[in-house]
Amino acid sequence: MGFSQDHTGRSTKVISVTSGKGGVGKSTIVANLATEFEKRGKRVLLFDGDLGMANLDIMFQVKPEYSVADVINGNADIRDILVDVTSSISLIPGGNGLFELQKLPQASKQTLLDQVSDLGTIYDVMIIDTAPGIADNVLYLNSAAQEITVVLTPDPSSLADAYALIKVLNLRQRESKFSVVCNQVRDEQDGRRIFDRLQSVAARFLPVTLTYRGSIPSDPHLRQSTRAQQLVCRTFPQAESAKALAGLADTFVSRADYRVSDEVECKGSLQFFWKQLIGAA
Ligand SMILES: Nc1ncnc2c1ncn2[C@@H]1O[C@H](COP(=O)(O)OP(=O)(O)O)[C@@H](O)[C@H]1O
Ligand SMILES: [Mg+2]
Repeated sequence: MGFSQDHTGRSTKVISVTSGKGGVGKSTIVANLATEFEKRGKRVLLFDGDLGMANLDIMFQVKPEYSVADVINGNADIRDILVDVTSSISLIPGGNGLFELQKLPQASKQTLLDQVSDLGTIYDVMIIDTAPGIADNVLYLNSAAQEITVVLTPDPSSLADAYALIKVLNLRQRESKFSVVCNQVRDEQDGRRIFDRLQSVAARFLPVTLTYRGSIPSDPHLRQSTRAQQLVCRTFPQAESAKALAGLADTFVSRADYRVSDEVECKGSLQFFWKQLIGAA
């Protein structure tokens, strides 16, 4: 289905980007993918779910005034806390309190759902940047997404941690389909090899299907961009990592790539995501 409309009207595709261990490049991938989607005419909503290190704001050089906590306290509407980082990309700063949304009174929950339902008519895609690991809130954000994208690197511990995350998501949340991106690889072959290794352990022990979405090379241009608080897709669009990220965006956008069942279609909407998040499902 890609970014198509569903039978109920427009639908926002919800993708999570997650990992077993930190520092693998999740936020880098999220921010650059958003930029590539924007280049393709998509409107993007980013959700910063890394409570410990809210860093998408830093990458886009914005200072959010409000956070989800203000929605809970009744100081702000969900629309007030959105930060427009470009004309086509908005950011929902997670911040503490994200998981306090569950405690909202029923009437406030309904108001929030009405508000986010409006957002569904604006954004083509929402990308969730999660914290690393298997904490409850990570599992929770992932299972509210339509497509779970697990990022890993050639580091052997990254493979073990990616496997552990997939295992827990399968056992606890009954998730069975995962997309995989290999980051900081030497070359495409290296990425394939890492994916194959993860795939072979997963296939032996878990009833899951992994889809290889691509690799991003370890790239000094990317490191340099990060240091300058810039995005490589903007500063060095011809760099190897930027080209790989652009290719990744194409993969996510392409229609033919998706074989989505009705079940998944129904799961993948902004409404579904927020219902899960506030516990109104
Ligand atoms: N493909 C890459 N090549 C070089 N450096 C990278 C690459 N991907 C990520 N990095 C660097 O790794 C560090 C961690 O990336 P980050 O996106 O913050 O990871 P996470 O969000 O998973 O913790 C950053 O300094 C970033 O610049
Ligand atoms: Mg991060």
